Amino acid sequence: MMAKEIPCFELNTGANIPSVGLGTWQSEPGLVGQAVEIAVKVGYRHIDCARAYGNEKEIGSVLKKMFDDGVVKREDLFITSKLWCTDHAPEDVPMALDKSLEELQLDYLDLYLIHWPVRRRKGSVGFKPEDLVPADIPNTWKAMEALYDAGKARAIGVSNFSTKKLGDLLDVARIPPAVNQIECHPSWQQTKLREFCKSKGVHLSGYSPLGSPGTVWLKSDVIKHPVIVTTAEKLGKTPAQVAIRWGLQMGHSVLPKSTHESRIKENFDVFDWSIPDDLFAKFSKIDQARLIRGTSFVDEKFGSYRTVEDLWDGEL
Ligand code: A2P
Repeated sequence: MMAKEIPCFELNTGANIPSVGLGTWQSEPGLVGQAVEIAVKVGYRHIDCARAYGNEKEIGSVLKKMFDDGVVKREDLFITSKLWCTDHAPEDVPMALDKSLEELQLDYLDLYLIHWPVRRRKGSVGFKPEDLVPADIPNTWKAMEALYDAGKARAIGVSNFSTKKLGDLLDVARIPPAVNQIECHPSWQQTKLREFCKSKGVHLSGYSPLGSPGTVWLKSDVIKHPVIVTTAEKLGKTPAQVAIRWGLQMGHSVLPKSTHESRIKENFDVFDWSIPDDLFAKFSKIDQARLIRGTSFVDEKFGSYRTVEDLWDGEL
């Protein structure tokens, strides 16, 4: 089937990243495959994956089936995956990428990200504080650069990097990161990091664009905010669509997750309308608070960061 042309953003590699991608964090095995298939049939061309999500194998089976059936071509998709914290040792980085490629049944990724600026003991499972070990981002990055050189990752980048950590990496990188994928929605707009990314040519990609309302431990009410609800009512759209459209108008790519067909479609119906300037201006007044604090990545004894302030370099 012919998909509509999806608006894209250009990366510093010259490649295009589709402006809306399907998130797969917390997409349950058994549901994620059909979600990816529905999304691609609706017209999504970007699937945001990660080894840590534990569902790449199922995504890979569906991708293969769709390639075999001629639903979509590999070169028309943009597939992201991420290096987990246990694989930061430079010698483990290529193996970790190979494992994701094997599970996804692909021979290259469009984008490979360091998932967190955090290192855990190799082979460790879960979030035990004693498994945190000091990160060495410059050396992990060199291994990422080698994957880029080999063409196995057509772009490389980072995720959950503060302005300071991104700046430190840019100071030593031979190949600058193409993307910083971070929490971003109307209640956590990332104003400082956004400006920095823009000035350095690093593309900002926003995860949890709806504030991950299904995550019980977050108690998120981002899409219930009166500014979003009122805007949605005025425009005849849903709050989720307004939150996604806000991200596009801010100039970043957006990665809404759903495993429900109606929502997958709804979240993609954001290209032929816009939030007018007077309503858009009201978003800058929304109170700001980070939802994903990363408390399991900090410890007073183990790893690189004693506190969440250290992890985010004060951007909280
Ligand atoms: P579900 O997967 O059951 O549809 P985020 O992308 O910010 O992480 O948010 C994902 C959460 O938002 C999931 O719980 C998802 O539930 C829910 N969600 C996705 N799309 C919509 C929508 N259009 N309206 C309301 N909730 C949605």
